[in-house]
Amino acid sequence: MAKNTQYHCQQCGSVAPKWAGRCESCGAWNSIVEEQISSRPSLAKSAKSGRKIDFSPLETENSKPAMKRLKCGISEFDRVTGGGIVPGSVLLIGGDPGIGKSTLLLQLVCKLSENNQQTVYITGEESADQVRLRGQRLGIKDAKIGIATATNASDIAETIRRSPEIELIIIDSIQTMYLPALDSAPGTVSQVRAAAQELIQAAKTSNTALIFVGHVTKDGAIAGPRVLEHMVDCVLHFEGDRSHHFRILRGIKNRFGATDEIGVFEMTAAGLQQITNPSELFLAERKNEVAGTAVFAGIEGSRPLLVEIEALVAPSPLASPRRNVVGWDSSRLAMLTAVLEARCGLPLSGRDIFLNVAGGMKIQEPAADLAVAAALISSVTTRPLPSRSVFFGEVALSAEIRQVSQIEQRLKEAEKLGFEKAFLPKPRKKTNLNLSLDLSYSENLSDFIDILGGIS
Ligand code: TYD
Ligand code: MG
Repeated sequence: MAKNTQYHCQQCGSVAPKWAGRCESCGAWNSIVEEQISSRPSLAKSAKSGRKIDFSPLETENSKPAMKRLKCGISEFDRVTGGGIVPGSVLLIGGDPGIGKSTLLLQLVCKLSENNQQTVYITGEESADQVRLRGQRLGIKDAKIGIATATNASDIAETIRRSPEIELIIIDSIQTMYLPALDSAPGTVSQVRAAAQELIQAAKTSNTALIFVGHVTKDGAIAGPRVLEHMVDCVLHFEGDRSHHFRILRGIKNRFGATDEIGVFEMTAAGLQQITNPSELFLAERKNEVAGTAVFAGIEGSRPLLVEIEALVAPSPLASPRRNVVGWDSSRLAMLTAVLEARCGLPLSGRDIFLNVAGGMKIQEPAADLAVAAALISSVTTRPLPSRSVFFGEVALSAEIRQVSQIEQRLKEAEKLGFEKAFLPKPRKKTNLNLSLDLSYSENLSDFIDILGGIS
């Protein structure tokens, strides 16, 4: 029987007789995807016209009480999802292979089942026995969870519709799911999109929460159609450096909460352990009195986070010196080195610069500028920075040090962890922070260099 499929260009909408790498009409590459044609008679043929839809106000008399979120009991996970998973919502977790997505979700399912919440784990990548084996390794073999191996999205959608008692379903992974009605192989753009749509529809009608595991491409984006990220309610990235044990769960999109939160975990022999006070962990291996290291008092979401920044400036044998950055934005480093050289006379050109954020953490805040500048200055002058100090502040192109937000939280965390001094931008208005820290304000980088003892 001929399949009801057509090939559409996603750029111009033209219909092609068969799949091709390049659209004949608009010339776009890789834009043709297979689409299922609805078996219903076309709109033109059906005599029925549309019907009027009803509107309802935001507040109604019988509006439901606030939806109760599914709290997983893993507080770092709950933090990233904005206080638990909303019933009927769909989450997508992306991450490099072997980073620990399956491990995290199996632990999550077990935690939920301990709280008597019905959850099932459907895998298309491993056999049920392999999942059991992993469960044993994690020491959770007694948990009452349902495990199944399935890849047919229609079967799973039907299961979701017929089992309203299930509160959460894990699909590991969405790239292995397929709809039998489509010709293309699992993992292709059209299959991923169609399978996800089928599953999401079933989940929304029966108010079951869904978590998809998503593979990532070489550049770190979630494999498959971009539209997948639009279809789901929440996108999380599980990231970390393979050579470190730390794993960071980062919110990218969340329809039910803030997206700038992170959850920190450590991969151990007994699975992932959550780290509720990451600053202590990121500073654990820190030794004082080394030139080129500075502690940055940052904020990730609603939580202060102290991390160590290491810089090494060395003479370069190369015509174009190296700029190696791990955990920070390399264009930001280029800007900062230009400001330090042009405005403050710090000799950096013709030298290699290596910058590293300890612990495999990635910093995105511009407030880290001052800490990076401090590490660079210290490396060039080979003088260690004042001991037990933290740094934060944004550096402008004029070398002015700009204010950053949540100063009090940053300082409190530094005080809590035993730091004695903080270097920060000059505040616009005086506030009494009532802290035992010694505060050193600077208006621009030249003043800051003078405070540190100048360049010599
Ligand atoms: P996994 O969850 O299979 O990764 P993903 O699903 O993201 O591909 O994690 C696999 C890695 O985690 C593997 O390299 C081994 C490591 N691991 C541990 O270190 N301890 C454990 O208890 C488990 C289960 C895995
Ligand atoms: Mg996996």
